[in-house]
Amino acid sequence: MKMEKWLLIGSGGREYAMAQSLAKNVNREVFVAPGNPMMNVLERVETVDIDELDFDTLVEFALNNQIDWTVVGPEKPLSDGIVDRFNDANLKVFGPNQQAAQLESSKEFAKEVMQSANVPTASYATFSNHDEAFAYMEQHDFPIVVKLNGLAAGKGVFIIKSLAEARETLDSIYANDANQEILIEEYLDGQEFSMIVMVNGTDVITMPLAQDHKRIYDGDKGPNTGGMGAYSPLPQFGDDVLNEGLVKVIRPVLDEMHKRGILFQGFLYAGLILTKDGVKVIEFNVRMGDPETQVILPQLQSDLGEVIVNLMNHRDQKVEWQTKRYYLGNVLAAKGYPGNHKNGLQLPQFNDSNLALAYAGVDEQDEQLVSSGGRIMMVISADEDLKIAQNNVNQAIKNNVDSNDYAFRTDIGDKAFR
Ligand code: AMP
Ligand code: GLY
Repeated sequence: MKMEKWLLIGSGGREYAMAQSLAKNVNREVFVAPGNPMMNVLERVETVDIDELDFDTLVEFALNNQIDWTVVGPEKPLSDGIVDRFNDANLKVFGPNQQAAQLESSKEFAKEVMQSANVPTASYATFSNHDEAFAYMEQHDFPIVVKLNGLAAGKGVFIIKSLAEARETLDSIYANDANQEILIEEYLDGQEFSMIVMVNGTDVITMPLAQDHKRIYDGDKGPNTGGMGAYSPLPQFGDDVLNEGLVKVIRPVLDEMHKRGILFQGFLYAGLILTKDGVKVIEFNVRMGDPETQVILPQLQSDLGEVIVNLMNHRDQKVEWQTKRYYLGNVLAAKGYPGNHKNGLQLPQFNDSNLALAYAGVDEQDEQLVSSGGRIMMVISADEDLKIAQNNVNQAIKNNVDSNDYAFRTDIGDKAFR
């Protein structure tokens, strides 16, 4: 049988899990650009030294190597139009085009689409001026939420609890950029979770729900990060929650995009919150989540590549997920993350074959693997009992990781037990 060739764009833990999932098929070779060195340890996976934003070279690579399909991991190439470029070159690619990617790249666009489609979300107003924003906050109750418009990797959100904090935050935002566009929105209270689906424009394939932990410290304290750990599925939510997300959020948004002549293809991630008035949207992403992917994709029993190809060809299919176990993973980050942190840390070793590891910020230095970046790797365990999975991960980290060098949480999964 001829080997299929796939190209995956990105280099983090999410892409590590995607590469691993795609490469389960022995008839598939997976190239990852730029990838990270630990991906080369995976069978049938090879990294290619091309930057994720170097579209010319990526297109050239795909053409020269007869790549069958390309999948895009991170948001930046999507919002910069990588899918449009691949389409122009007649290359098959799974991901939203630049217009569709606005659901993530412009919070204002996302809000406007939600408003037209009657999708439940926080009420909001937009500003690009310090004094008007401040006057608005004087008129409203706290807490209130301020968001920078545009991609900010989860770091452009401020939960404001007092007028003094409002002034301080606006001062610092408008000192950086006197015309910064911001959204000020109603604070939503409830448990947050991630609903990720795969879409070909009209048909939707759901994935198990997951819960990320965005703050750096236990108890959801400290600054926001890219995500410090996740678990999936979520025992505290029944199928009714997934269904509510599908009916009240995903479908109406896809219909509204369709009405506007925008075809949404790819992964669509709804950051949802279960409030006392039901499910509401916090944000959209137009890609899979990191670290959610690392605990979702190992549950897929069908072949990810085949699922994508069938979906994009509008073929009927049954997509199978495991239902017996909970997958839970903790991120190991460099101490100091999301602020200043060291690179070049030695990687911890784990010798428990029941744990899975997903590598993100790793690099080769003098033929040694070392850390490079904030989030370095994820330690994952799966068990029929979520508490046991949590204990496995926490114990392994306690035994093998130097907490002087590494930051990690120990309460991933706790919200399921409340
Ligand atoms: P975002 O970048 O929009 O995902 O926001 C990052 C985090 O800020 C979210 O995961 C929430 O924890 C918090 N957040 C954002 N918007 C709201 C809101 N309207 N109410 C409460 N928390 C929010
Ligand atoms: N886990 C949050 C994100 O990927 O944006």
